[in-house]
Amino acid sequence: MKSIKVNVGKGYNIFIEKGILNHCGDYIKQVSGASKVCLISDTNVIKLYGDTVKQQLMQVGFDVCQYVFEAGEASKKPETVISMVEFMAENELTRGDLVVALGGGVCGDMAGFAASIYLRGIDFVQIPTSLLAQVDSSVGGKTAVDLPQGKNLCGAFHQPILVLIDPNTLDTLTPHFFSDGMAEVIKTGCIKSASLFDKIESKDAKSIIDDIIFECVSIKAGVVERDEREHGERALLNFGHTPGHAIEKLHGFTTISHGEAVGIGMVMIAKAGEANGITPVGTADRIAGVLQKYSLMVSDSNDLASIISAMNMDKKRSADSIKFVLLHSIGDSFTQSINNEDIPRFFGLE
Ligand code: GLY
Repeated sequence: MKSIKVNVGKGYNIFIEKGILNHCGDYIKQVSGASKVCLISDTNVIKLYGDTVKQQLMQVGFDVCQYVFEAGEASKKPETVISMVEFMAENELTRGDLVVALGGGVCGDMAGFAASIYLRGIDFVQIPTSLLAQVDSSVGGKTAVDLPQGKNLCGAFHQPILVLIDPNTLDTLTPHFFSDGMAEVIKTGCIKSASLFDKIESKDAKSIIDDIIFECVSIKAGVVERDEREHGERALLNFGHTPGHAIEKLHGFTTISHGEAVGIGMVMIAKAGEANGITPVGTADRIAGVLQKYSLMVSDSNDLASIISAMNMDKKRSADSIKFVLLHSIGDSFTQSINNEDIPRFFGLE
C-alpha cells in the first residue's frame, strides 16, 4: 500500500491499494466516530461496488443510508445537492455523522458539497472510482455543482477526512472514461513534471497506472498543502481548464467530457503561448500527440470566437482580466492575467 499525507487543516491520509475497497470499513472506522453514514453514489457505480462498501461499513458498526443519483454531469446541479441534504435530514444525520462519496468526479464534487453545507459542515470520505477522480478531483477539497452560467460556479472548499483509492476499480472503466482521466494526468505532467510527461509519452500509461496515480496525487497534495484556497500556486492545476470549461459549457455539459474539453484547452493555450513567444515552438504539437495517443481530442467544433466569448464566466476572471496558466516548457508553468480586450489577440483571433 502507498500512502500520502495531506497536511491541510487537521490533515488527512490518501491510501492507494489494489483491493482496498474490500476492507474500507476498517480504514473509515479509524478516522470517524460517526453512528450513521450516508453513502452517496451514482446509478452505475452503486451496481458495481455499492454492496461491497455498504457491507464493509455495516460490518464495522455504522448505520448506513444510501443516496443514489443518475450518473452523468447533467446531475451536477444545485437541485441534486439539495435533494442529498434533505435525504440526510430525513435520515437524521447529526454533526458527528459521515458522508462517504463512492464514484467519479461528479459524485465526489457533489457529495463533498452536500457534506460542506449540511448542518454547516460534516465529515466526508472520498472513495474515487474513476481515473479522473483518483488522480485529481478527490484530493484537495474542491467541491461544487455547475450552474447554467458555467462549470463549478457554486461550491465550497471542504477537505475530506480520508481518501481511499483502489486502482482495481479502473478495470471496469470504459476506454472513454480512462481517456477522460488521462487528460488530468497529461495536465499534471505539463504543469509540474517533465519526467511524468515523458513517461506517459513513451510508455503505455495503463501498464504503470499505480505509479502514475501515486505521482499525480503526490504532486497535487504538495500544491494543496502550499496553497489550499488557490491564492497562487494551486491555480496552476487549472491549466487548459479556462477554455476547457468554456467548451463544456458550449456543449451543454453533456456531449463532451471534462477530460476531452481540458485536452482541447491545453492545446489552445500552448498554441497561444507559442504564438506570443512564451512557450517553445513544438510544445502544442507534443501535447496534442500525447492527447491523441490516449484517444483524446485536440480541437473543438466550436469556433475560437465562441470559445473565447464563453470564457467570460470563468472563476479565474476579475472585472477586467482572466488569469491563464501558461507553460515556460513542459513541466514548468506559471499564471498570467490577460486583459479582456487583449484575449482575442492573445489567441490569434485578431
Ligand atoms: N482540479 C483543480 C484543483 O483541485 O485545484
